Amino acid sequence: MAFVKVASLDEIQVGATRLAELAEPVCLVRTDAHTVKAVHDTCSHQQYSLCEGWIDLDSSGGGGSVECSLHGSTFDLDTGHPDALPAVKPIPVYACKVDDGAVWVDIDQQLNDAPVPRH
Ligand code: FES
Repeated sequence: MAFVKVASLDEIQVGATRLAELAEPVCLVRTDAHTVKAVHDTCSHQQYSLCEGWIDLDSSGGGGSVECSLHGSTFDLDTGHPDALPAVKPIPVYACKVDDGAVWVDIDQQLNDAPVPRH
């Protein structure tokens, strides 16, 4: 597969999420004016939607994280690794780019080795 257009950039506010239904549900997170990250939408703890969660844009300059709104695990948006219990498994991170005012995702380009969560 190749990159697929999933949204217009101006449809996603900085610090907000948007769900993209591809072969897997993907949670898009806009982290600044020009950057969107893409992770699997399914929390690795009990399969809750991460798009329902909260975003921390990480003022230290990192890529930010998403906090699951069900039990509070946080996942790094660059590595997919959980930074807070109860989740212990990472979530898949996908290739995502912004081009010509649109957001593109290729879920065949998984950027880490996380198992795909059940959903
Ligand atoms: S379902 Fe996400 S932390 Fe439990």
